[in-house]
Amino acid sequence: MANKIIITIDGWSSCGKSTLARQLAGKLGYTYIDSGAMYRAITLYFLRNHVDWTDNSEVDAALKNIGIEFRFNEKVQQSEIYLNGENVEYVIRDLVIAEKVSDVAAIAAVRSFAVAQQQKLGEQKGIVMDGRDIGTTVFPHAELKIFMTADIAVRVERRFKEFVEKNPNVTLEEVKNNLEMRDYIDSHREVSPLRKASDAIVLDNTNLNMEEQLEIALNLVNELL
Ligand code: DC
Repeated sequence: MANKIIITIDGWSSCGKSTLARQLAGKLGYTYIDSGAMYRAITLYFLRNHVDWTDNSEVDAALKNIGIEFRFNEKVQQSEIYLNGENVEYVIRDLVIAEKVSDVAAIAAVRSFAVAQQQKLGEQKGIVMDGRDIGTTVFPHAELKIFMTADIAVRVERRFKEFVEKNPNVTLEEVKNNLEMRDYIDSHREVSPLRKASDAIVLDNTNLNMEEQLEIALNLVNELL
């Protein structure tokens, strides 16, 4: 395919955005970037280094010490996030991070830091990026914008299944509270709140399996290429 495009996938927490983004990127030979992983890695750094993120000067100083990069892991055939040279792809998925990440992602300085890097990663196009503000703020001129949604009960169930594998003590209630809290904070913050871009196409996957949602998305891509 000659014309490489930018594909943005935004939506609520645990809608399967990253699954779709990863599959699309694989099919198209594009790069997949998980923008949420950047906010999670920053949150991990803040927690580990006891950064008081209510203090702007502490945040600014801390951001100067954070280096984030994505490296492709041939073994698992996916890109993984590195924080100052350390692979943190798996630790950032912990509930401890999920509980704080929306607060950290609401900080203006944190967003400018992450958005600048995201835009750089998209300079060459041929990228699928998922998140909350990718179609609205990061790539407002992206050729294809998808906004994903699904019933909360379905989202809770999916995320719960993922969590119990790692942590058998986690309850359905905890997962539900976390998703609802993040959706609320993400869509009510001042800077780049979670919104559907006016030109985004809604994909509700409540009743779709992974193959079906991929097919819909691939059809949307083919209409453009
Ligand atoms: O996609 P995720 O659940 O890994 O994202 C973690 C958090 O990061 C999410 O609750 C909100 C924030 N986020 C954001 O504010 N903007 C993005 N582009 C991606 C994620």
